[in-house]
Amino acid sequence: MCGIVGYVGERRATPVVLDGLRRLEYRGYDSAGIAIVSDGEITCTRRVGFVAALEAVVPPTLPGTTGIGHTRWATHGGVTEANAHPHLDSTNRVAVCHNGIIENHTVLRSRLEEEGIAFRSDTDTEVLAHLISKFYSGDPEAAVRQALSHIQGTWGIAVVFLDHPGLIVAARNGSPLVVGKGEGETFLASDPHALAAYTRQVVYLEDRDLVTITARGWTISRLDGAGVSRGVEVLGEEWTSEGRGEFSHHMLKEIHEQPESLARGVLGRVVPDEGGARLGGFDLTPRAIAAIRHIRVLGCGTSFHAGMVGAAAMEGLARIPATAEIASEFRYRNPVISADDLFFAVSQSGETADTLGAVREVQIKGGSVLGVVNVVGSSIARSCGRGVYVHSGPEIAVASTKAFTSQVAALLVAALSFARTRVLGPHEGKAFGEELLAVPKRVGEWLAADNPGVMEAVELCAQGKFVFFLGRGVSHAVALEGALKLKEVAYIPCMAYPAAEMKHGPIALLDKRTPVVVVVPDDVMRDKTLSSVQEVRARGARVILVHTEGDAAAQRLADVSIPVPRSSTLISPLFTVLPLQLLSFRAGLALGRDIDRPRNLAKSVTVE
Ligand code: G6P
Repeated sequence: MCGIVGYVGERRATPVVLDGLRRLEYRGYDSAGIAIVSDGEITCTRRVGFVAALEAVVPPTLPGTTGIGHTRWATHGGVTEANAHPHLDSTNRVAVCHNGIIENHTVLRSRLEEEGIAFRSDTDTEVLAHLISKFYSGDPEAAVRQALSHIQGTWGIAVVFLDHPGLIVAARNGSPLVVGKGEGETFLASDPHALAAYTRQVVYLEDRDLVTITARGWTISRLDGAGVSRGVEVLGEEWTSEGRGEFSHHMLKEIHEQPESLARGVLGRVVPDEGGARLGGFDLTPRAIAAIRHIRVLGCGTSFHAGMVGAAAMEGLARIPATAEIASEFRYRNPVISADDLFFAVSQSGETADTLGAVREVQIKGGSVLGVVNVVGSSIARSCGRGVYVHSGPEIAVASTKAFTSQVAALLVAALSFARTRVLGPHEGKAFGEELLAVPKRVGEWLAADNPGVMEAVELCAQGKFVFFLGRGVSHAVALEGALKLKEVAYIPCMAYPAAEMKHGPIALLDKRTPVVVVVPDDVMRDKTLSSVQEVRARGARVILVHTEGDAAAQRLADVSIPVPRSSTLISPLFTVLPLQLLSFRAGLALGRDIDRPRNLAKSVTVE
């Protein structure tokens, strides 16, 4: 949420910072801005809207070789140029970019106003610019340190000083920052996407770290002044492939990448000969697995939906009582955590503040939490210390697609490994493992085929004022995910319900025009769900059925039929979600939406 980029070196900073901002745009795109230190001034340019709007007005020939930039997802203050970052102090000698929230900004602002400072924006960040300026007496690092000692809240900040044209001071507390090592140049960014084109050698800052960056390198210390050293890590190959390739949109590319992303998640982990699976990152002995009394899976948005499938698999396959919980709710109800509970924190970005907060709540209470994370080295991955990377590769489109299926696959692999340790025989384990291993190829075949039902569904949904999604068991999680996608990408109001709950209220919403998407694979719940479909049809609503191929009875009940491959129940979400991903993409396209950057959203939500 919000992206920060910084550069100090020998090149002109402007193109490097703008390029980094373009790569980080998925973190927020309400406004963008850049501050370049050159020729005795800080040139600060900001624009509402996408980075392209900023690029169009930034003086292209600014000579400065030190700069910072920011893409904003608005929290405090509306989407205006005045509220765009960077923010300057009153004397234009200090410029600050900030991610996070300054919780005590109101009191700090009042104090500064009493001292005669005139504020130019409604943001919480501007207090930082004035505070740093107030404490500055020649030592940039000391000024930032002192200013931050007055701040309550979260921050990832980058600060430049007019008096020190070859230097950036940055600090992290709750909002990620990574330093990139170049030859005679040093980079800074909120995440490695901005850096991978320039360097693969990076240093992740920890909370309450402060770093002073020059062209020659960097010095990291703790906020209290203590020295600290952080190792250089090398970014994996996956960070370098970010283009859209032959596809019109990142979302479409990512949907079609699922055969490969799923293969990376299951190959080498599922071991059919043993009828089980190996996940080295869990670091759990068979004895520890046998002692688990309860599993809780935490996540937000799409990751929560994947967690619902994971919990169902833990309970259904491994016979461990399991629930999925929305991370933001979990941590504020003072949850009881026992030593024999096991938690999973599911997150694509690994930076979601609500999920990270839940991880900390578990850890404070002595609980054990494993990460199920896509972004290597992210805050949640490092906070958990143990877990599994889902390896879906970079996901750029804000609406998550391939990360969902990779998360589900990782949780299914984990459930298989726990199940084998506890209750599952080798034959059943082998059958489940083999089915999982076959999924990537079958997903590829389905995606490559013509699926006319998807376009028919788009026609019904794009015209509808409201779309209702139904499913039961794991298909309820898929229904929730389908509804979330259609909201995010096409801005169509939707609701998802467990099918049998429909009659307890929401059925009142149905009329002759309402499209109802029902996820009904051929499993133990099929007949019950088809009864709900009959109730829908009796109200004259239009039925879009995602069903198992060859299920003629289901097909007969559908106005629009979308067959998917046959699978066992727990694996079915990996197939049934595919048409719903394409439905939202196509509906968004038909309605002229900005598919990869939906309004008001951001890919990585690092504020509560
Ligand atoms: C945001 C995104 C969602 C995503 C959720 C959780 O709300 O817009 O698409 O599912 O965050 O993100 P995470 O990175 O933790 O999976």
